[in-house]
Amino acid sequence: MSQALDEIKIGGLGASRKRVEDDRFIRGRGNYTDDITLPGMLHMEILRSPLAHARIKSIDASKAWDIPGVRLVLTGEMMATRNLAWMPTLSYDTQAVLATDKVRFQGQEVACVIADDPYIAKDACEAIDVEYEPLPVIVNPVQAVADGAPVIRDDKENQPDNVIYNWEVGDKAGTDRAFEQADVISKLKLHYPRSHPSPIECCGSIADFNRATSKLTVYMTTQAPHIIRAAVAMVAELPEHLIRIVSPDIGGGFGNKVPVYPGYVCSILASILLERPVKWIEDKSGNLISTGFARDMYLDSEMALRKDGKILGVRIHADADHGAFFSDAQPSKFKIGLLHSAFAAYDIPAGHLTARGTYSNKAPGGVAYRCSFRVTEAMFFQERMMQVAAVDLGIDQAEFRRMNFVQDEQFPYRTAFGFLTDSGQYAKCLDVGLKAVGYEEFRQQQAEARKRGKLLGLGISTMTEPLGAGNSREYDILGIKMFDSADLKVHMTGKAILRTGAKSQGQGHETTWAQIVAHELGLPAEDVVVEEGDTDTAPFGMGTYASRSTPVAGAAVAMVSRKIRAKARKLAAHLLEVSEEDIEWELGRFYVRSAPDRGVTIQECAMAAYSNMPDGMEPGLENTAYYDPPNLTWPFAVYIVTVEVDPETGVWDVLNMVAVDDCGVRINPMIVEGQIMGGLTEAYAMANMQFITFDAEGNCVGSNYMDYLLPTAWETPGFELHSEVVTPSPHHPIGAKGVGECAAVGGPAAFVNAVMDAISDTGVRNIDMPLLPDRVWEAITYRRDVSGAPPVRAEDDAGRSGGVVPPGQN
Ligand code: CDP
Repeated sequence: MSQALDEIKIGGLGASRKRVEDDRFIRGRGNYTDDITLPGMLHMEILRSPLAHARIKSIDASKAWDIPGVRLVLTGEMMATRNLAWMPTLSYDTQAVLATDKVRFQGQEVACVIADDPYIAKDACEAIDVEYEPLPVIVNPVQAVADGAPVIRDDKENQPDNVIYNWEVGDKAGTDRAFEQADVISKLKLHYPRSHPSPIECCGSIADFNRATSKLTVYMTTQAPHIIRAAVAMVAELPEHLIRIVSPDIGGGFGNKVPVYPGYVCSILASILLERPVKWIEDKSGNLISTGFARDMYLDSEMALRKDGKILGVRIHADADHGAFFSDAQPSKFKIGLLHSAFAAYDIPAGHLTARGTYSNKAPGGVAYRCSFRVTEAMFFQERMMQVAAVDLGIDQAEFRRMNFVQDEQFPYRTAFGFLTDSGQYAKCLDVGLKAVGYEEFRQQQAEARKRGKLLGLGISTMTEPLGAGNSREYDILGIKMFDSADLKVHMTGKAILRTGAKSQGQGHETTWAQIVAHELGLPAEDVVVEEGDTDTAPFGMGTYASRSTPVAGAAVAMVSRKIRAKARKLAAHLLEVSEEDIEWELGRFYVRSAPDRGVTIQECAMAAYSNMPDGMEPGLENTAYYDPPNLTWPFAVYIVTVEVDPETGVWDVLNMVAVDDCGVRINPMIVEGQIMGGLTEAYAMANMQFITFDAEGNCVGSNYMDYLLPTAWETPGFELHSEVVTPSPHHPIGAKGVGECAAVGGPAAFVNAVMDAISDTGVRNIDMPLLPDRVWEAITYRRDVSGAPPVRAEDDAGRSGGVVPPGQN
């Protein structure tokens, strides 16, 4: 009889194990960067530019130097003497560390003060006199390419204008043919506004250079510590083995903590110069005004359609506003990330995408906020386009999607833009969602309500997204291939420590990685401690962003566990005195095939690895796995929202929201639900309230939480989650697909589609996010589209109104 362990009881796959990390968080015992105090530590503050574009005529720091307690004032000029005034970005561009010639966005770093405490440093920043000569400002791509536009990056040779790249992908000729054959051509233009990841913890670092050992240790808020180590080694020309990057607990990252920020670089240089630890902790305004923004993309598309609803082809043009420096993290091959994953869920014979990136006088943007390299823009646009096309054709929205889905039997499927999707049950997920929301009944209620002047609407968003870069053949950042790693050491008592190249920022890796080990080895999850984020101890990895941890590092955890099991099998054969071929495995135990009662536990094998190994066997039970996935994972999701819109005020309320996520095998169902809830909350915030924009002078509107709103439990609607559809990834060792960002990626379109559906009688095709009440009211009242593209007009109340002039239409 089987003596296998009960997997759920030991906290293996499928167990809704409580998050082990929360124990320290809820007791206030987390260890964030700002919690760390080192002996002799100094504090750094940054002086930021008040102007968006201006020449620097002079910087006079003499008064700052005179303030007691000031140890160092860093300016661009000083950085330049060490070749550190500029640094390379993750997209082969350069970024000013401290401005030398010009400031190029409001909030740009101009000088730093290092002092005995942060208050002295802040006061000293205010004592620095900077003389600026204002220059004309650019806040959108139309201005960027206009005749006579000021060249923002005049620091760069061979940069005569503000265009960063022109990129295209797909089959132009085939797409042209599809449009020739179309019965109907549907069009949509929109702006996906800037949004800010807004982690609760801002960015920060403590650099500690020890002259005696020549070792540089940096505690910092980074989602990718090994990449930072490589960058520091290359930029500062320090030996990599003498650099230790430690990411302690991180209070939310969402992509905001992937880029390299000037504050990190300045704290490192200051520590080297002063030979003392230097701490920099960014404040909220600094974080909101200067760190990596997301989105800011103008999308313009046409869809070629047959009368019966079949999509024949799609053309997309994207204008991406990257701000003053092109510093997104994305695979080198793809100028605009994975935007071409758009329409991957649909069977579309031909597609052609063109993209142009431009500079503007805004903080560097384009980071992947809870997003795999621009898939959020792709999926939002896709699902808005699907709704508009269904309306143009007069076909039911759900039916239009269903008839164009890639069908289950079509996998593996090559998309119009070249991705290979490999699995999914799209129609089944849609059915579950429609049933849960009561689709037919709602349509009847909607029609009846309309007769009474009430505006009800239903929005659908269905999408598959590519999660888990690499494979290394196609995906690299700055030439460093994208794969990941896990290192597992099983001690002699059967307890273990696991380290990976990923870095949790709240996703619960300490809980879920141990569950994968439990599944593979039968060690209770509570016996496995998980550590991430210290480059001196963790194996090399590309970090956590783009929901890549489960598909890549999670797979490495399974693979390293299997290596351990293979060695344990040899130990078991030795202990049981049979040949390895006669050994069988069941969870937690090896046994003799012909005598199942004769067995040894995995813990007994661990003890033998240190005390009773066979002759010639290397002692110990530890190993490392580097995992290079054969493909991305392709989760699928259906989000359906119902709303009521008040025609008098434009206020809209969510009546119901249903989410059906198929992310393959769920390691920890409770954590997956938490990820989806969090993503839907962010999606709702982006659709409903989060507004960060710029006026004509490049002033950032929304650099504080009075203007840029974070949803609280009060505003956030309830969500109904469904998990009944499970399509395992065909190549992931445990069949899991990424999930962390799905809801934030797919959710916004469901909310917007619902509002647009409610006001469909007006004939309005688009209101740009956020769907603030005045924008919705304007659309209803004047029966016109409402753009949200900057610049906001000065007379609009703090930029809250729509009614702005969109690029291309002024
Ligand atoms: O890369 P990131 O951790 O942000 O995203 P992810 O790989 O989608 O994982 C987010 C969290 O959900 C992790 O704790 C995963 O282990 C967990 N997860 C899961 O339990 N089952 C899945 N199929 C996918 C993720």
